[in-house]
Formats: sequence, structure tokens, C-alpha cells
Amino acid sequence: MTKGKILLVLYEGGKHAEEQEKLLGCIENELGIRNFIEEQGYELITTTDKDPEPHSTVDRELKDAEIVITTPFFPAYISRTRIAEAPNLKLCITAGVGSDHVDLEAANERKITVTEVTGSNVVSVAEHVMTTILVLIRNYNGGHHQAINGEWDIAGVAKNEYDLEDKVISTVGAGRIGYRVLERLVAFNPKKLLYYDYQELPAEAINRLNEAGRLFNGRGDIVQRVEKLEDMVAQSDVVTINCPLHGDSRGLFNKELISHMKDGAYLVNTARGAICIAEDVAEAVKSGKLAGYGGDVWDKQPAPKDHPWRTMDNKDHVGNAMTVHISGTSLDAQKRYAQGVKNILNSYFSKKFDYRPQDVIVQNGTYATRAYGQK
Ligand code: NAI
Repeated sequence: MTKGKILLVLYEGGKHAEEQEKLLGCIENELGIRNFIEEQGYELITTTDKDPEPHSTVDRELKDAEIVITTPFFPAYISRTRIAEAPNLKLCITAGVGSDHVDLEAANERKITVTEVTGSNVVSVAEHVMTTILVLIRNYNGGHHQAINGEWDIAGVAKNEYDLEDKVISTVGAGRIGYRVLERLVAFNPKKLLYYDYQELPAEAINRLNEAGRLFNGRGDIVQRVEKLEDMVAQSDVVTINCPLHGDSRGLFNKELISHMKDGAYLVNTARGAICIAEDVAEAVKSGKLAGYGGDVWDKQPAPKDHPWRTMDNKDHVGNAMTVHISGTSLDAQKRYAQGVKNILNSYFSKKFDYRPQDVIVQNGTYATRAYGQK
């Protein structure tokens, strides 16, 4: 007789798990928490079989589970219907950051606690944002394809290649990731760094960026908050999206908002795929309205083979910098979020429920963070 059931949903590691023991985030290595969980008297069920609802192992096993642990990279969608079918469910843990795969409103109605390992992969994502911006603006893919295909048409690459220096770059959301992106961008000597967020950055955070700008480039006062999103995107050469997915951000980047962007601007989204309307983005890349779009998040994961972002293209066959969802699951990040999950479980098992406040998304029927809309 066990104390209860914990369901863990992770992506498959296969032969890679054999080759790389640090791949804690895959099903074979189970975040390294099996012994810990079993020592606490709980049963651990692990699976990769999460879709389609309601015919998967997740549907079957969630019915009597007390805790579910899943990742944004390979999310088990904890929908309202699944929650309704899981009367024992008390705690959802996100092994990573971003808990939009849980229906937070339904969790609140049932007083289910939703936690994530805040901060665990914010540096990893900020680095991926920088990579994606540079891949696009430097037309890295154009040059790389020629290198491996035996070609040497420099003009064909250079005609779509720019420097990041002196550009206006903006972030939608200036939280942990957005701010780290701004920090990294300062070193590139931007003309302006803009942010749009209903939470204002503290004055000292802005001062730090401006001070760094002065120190690195002799250019202060580079950071500005913009009140209207349309105004911000209209000024920006590069826009990066770093806010959570929720009711107000779903579908935010649609045809209308994109029409306010500068012609030939770049859009980078490592936040959540559903913040953008996939077809509208693909159309903007095809028409050249956007010089490029990149990121690693998709509206449904794994993305179907025919998802428009897999093949979207422009006339020069550059401008697509998509990857599968990898930015937040570097080996360094996996170590941090595996430890974070263990800490959350420890708080739960001890019945102290003394989670790190920043890890709690919803608890006792209400939002514990302002990041998921102005609630
Ligand atoms: P955070 O909570 O530190 O910051 C989020 C910021 O976005 C907050 O300042 C909030 O006020 C702001 N915000 C919320 N809605 C907004 C809106 N509609 N417009 C403008 N700003 C808005 O979160 P953090 O750590 O920076 O992560 C942000 C998001 O990035 C996560 O929620 C997740 O969706 C995504 N993420 C993606 C990863 C990946 O592997 N690609 C890994 C980690 C996070």
C-alpha cells in the first residue's frame, strides 16, 4: 500500500539517454527522483504517452494520481476535462518554467496547487534568444547552407545580412528572461532597448542597463518602457517575446499587430507558440513583411509534421530560424529543474508546503503571481 500516486510525463531519451547520463529530463532518467519518491512511500508512474486526450496513458493514470509532473518541452496538457477526471489531484509541478499547459482556472476552482521551478532555465532561454536573433540578422543560415552545399555566392548571403549594432530591439515581457535578454543585448551597442510589460522594471534594474551601456559603448539612456505594444513594435528592428501564455497573450501576434511592425523586422519567440498566430507569421515571412521569424516553441508540442513553421520560407530561402523546443532544456538547465522538482516534492511530502514563493503559480484557489495576466 503506497501513500499515493505520482505521474511523471517526460520526453523519450532512447539511445541518447544511454550515451548521456546528464539527460535527467527524459523518461529513462526520470529527473533522478525515483528512489527519493519511493523512499517517501509514493508510487511513481512514468510515461511518454500523453496524447490524444482521452485515450492516452496520462488519461488513465491521472485518474487516481495525487501529483503530476510534466515539462513544457513535451507537455502533458492538464486540461479542464482531465482535471475533472482526477479527483485526487492536489499538485501539478512543471519541470521547467511556464505552466500554461495546465488549465490554471480549472486548477483554481479545484484548489489544486500549480508550481514550477522558477528561474531554472532563464539563462538558457536568454542565450537561445540571443542565438536566434544573431542567426537571423547575420543571415547565418544562408551562409551555412552554402558552406555545406559546396557553394560560394557571397552576395547572395550578404544581401540579407546586417549588424545588430545600432538597431532598436524590444521585448514583450521584461521578467526574468526578458531582462536577461536586455542585459545581453547591451554588449551589442544597440540604439535603443525597449520593453512592454504591465509590470514596470525597478529603477535600479534600468539604471544597471543604462550604466552598462555607458560603460561598454559610451551610450546611456538606452532603455525605455513603451506603453502601447503597437508603438513599440513600430519602432523595432527586432522584437522578442518573453511573456507567459495566458488569456491576454494568446494570439497576440496576429496579422493586425504584425502589420504595425517595421517592414523587414525580425520576430523571435521562445516564450510560447500560441502567443503568435502560426499562419499569420508564416504569411508575413513569405511576403517579406518579416525578414525572419525564429524560436523554439509551437502551439502544440510535438508540432505536427505539416505545421507551417517547419517549412515557412521567403524568396531567398532564409528567414526561418525555428528549432524544436530545446532552449530551456540544456543539460545545465536539466540539473537545475530536476533539483527544483525534488525541492517542491520535499515541501509537499513534509506537509509544510513551504514552497519558494516564486515557484507558486496558483494555490488555494488563486493566482500567486502577477505574470499570468493582471489578476
Ligand atoms: P517571469 O514571470 O519572470 O516574467 C514574465 C513577464 O512577462 C512578467 O514581467 C509579466 O508581467 C510579463 N507579462 C505577462 N503577460 C504579458 C503581456 N501580455 N504583455 C507583456 N508582458 C507580459 O517569467 P520568465 O521566467 O521570464 O518566463 C517567461 C515565459 O517564457 C514563461 O512563462 C514561459 O512561457 C517561457 N519560457 C520558455 C522556455 C523555453 O524553453 N523556451 C523556458 C522558460 C520559460
